[in-house]
Amino acid sequence: MNKIKVGVVGTGFIGPAHVEALRRLPNVEVAALCEVNIDLARQKAEQMGIERPYTFEDLLKQEDISCIHICTPNFLHYSQSKAALEAGKHVVCEKPLAKDLHEAKELVSLAAKSGLVNAVHFNLRYYPLARQMKTMREKGELGEVYSVIGSYLQDWLFYDTDYNWRLEPDKSGNSRAIADIGSHLMDILEYITGLKTVAVMADFNTIHKTRKKPLKPVETYSGKMLRPEDYADVPINTEDHANVLLRFDNGNRGVITVSQVSAGRKNQMKLEIAGSKKTFAWNSEAPNEMWIGNRDGYNESLMRDPSLVHAEARSVISFPGGHNEGFPDTSKQMFREVYAAVEAGRQPEKPTYPTFADGYRELLICERILESNRRQGWVEV
Ligand SMILES: NC(=O)c1ccc[n+]([C@@H]2O[C@H](COP(=O)([O-])OP(=O)(O)OC[C@H]3O[C@@H](n4cnc5c(N)ncnc54)[C@H](O)[C@@H]3O)[C@@H](O)[C@H]2O)c1
Repeated sequence: MNKIKVGVVGTGFIGPAHVEALRRLPNVEVAALCEVNIDLARQKAEQMGIERPYTFEDLLKQEDISCIHICTPNFLHYSQSKAALEAGKHVVCEKPLAKDLHEAKELVSLAAKSGLVNAVHFNLRYYPLARQMKTMREKGELGEVYSVIGSYLQDWLFYDTDYNWRLEPDKSGNSRAIADIGSHLMDILEYITGLKTVAVMADFNTIHKTRKKPLKPVETYSGKMLRPEDYADVPINTEDHANVLLRFDNGNRGVITVSQVSAGRKNQMKLEIAGSKKTFAWNSEAPNEMWIGNRDGYNESLMRDPSLVHAEARSVISFPGGHNEGFPDTSKQMFREVYAAVEAGRQPEKPTYPTFADGYRELLICERILESNRRQGWVEV
């Protein structure tokens, strides 16, 4: 079998998750790896059992590499995705697609002109019960959406000694909690409800106005191991916590809260969608079950089980009920759909996976949320 050869760029937290997910697909081989310098690329390639380490420029010259996964800090997504498309490679880019709308717009148009496969890793859509909720809504089982409540809470930036490139706007962009985790939440809410957010009203808070920056580099989520003498004080301008009111195109309303300073909440995305027939509630830290609320009968609990869900949700399930699936499975299921397109050689007309256009949409909502916080008033999307 001729496998599709892939190069992965960046091996911090999410790069290895891409590699593992790709290795679970029968038609794909992770053939090449790229890092910030060739020495680190060699070291990581050895550790991860990948044959060919490259600099980014050399990776693009490899004719047998068909697809590139961009898993680097946000400020590199635009230049690296652009260069990869121009080199004729299919691209899977991490979120956010770019640092601002102009960059994202250019990438969307470049990708469209090229016909190449383009995807943004909004993998949380691929929790099977997220697809079940979307499908139930499409089949009319939820009814009209009355209201939405969403939250995405983490604690990895809880202490002022917690530090990461995401705290620096030149590497991450002008928004942090909203761009980093709010983008997943806004994406999945529009995906499930089918609604468009038409106006936002945001209120941000920076809990730690000064943080202690490590004087040596650390990888994401590993900052807990440093000692006090290893830090320097830096001012922080991006949000630790944000509340946003939402207005949807059906006239109804929603609200979201995101925080990276909620002790004990490691990576919890929760949503509750109330419709004219039922209410759905789901929590990403217990992703194998969802709550279905009924006014005139018993409330229900649906377990992720291929025999109990709609066919559309079954298509992103690999294991029987009770054999729990989680975060790593979401990327595998997403890449399975992406690589069906890569195998066909071009972006399909109606991709089932999140595209650069979806990445653009999330940046648009994010920019309007930032503007609303600045103006302390409603802003249209
Ligand atoms: N979809 C998700 O669930 C999810 C989860 C985590 C992170 N992310 C996204 O993934 C991206 C990376 O996040 P992370 O947490 O893995 O960050 P990280 O800091 O842990 O890793 C970034 C990696 O990129 C490498 N890198 C830096 N500059 C480079 C360059 N010029 N060329 C090649 N490699 C370079 C770094 O050395 C590091 O290995 C971010 O954009 C983030 O938003 C998405």
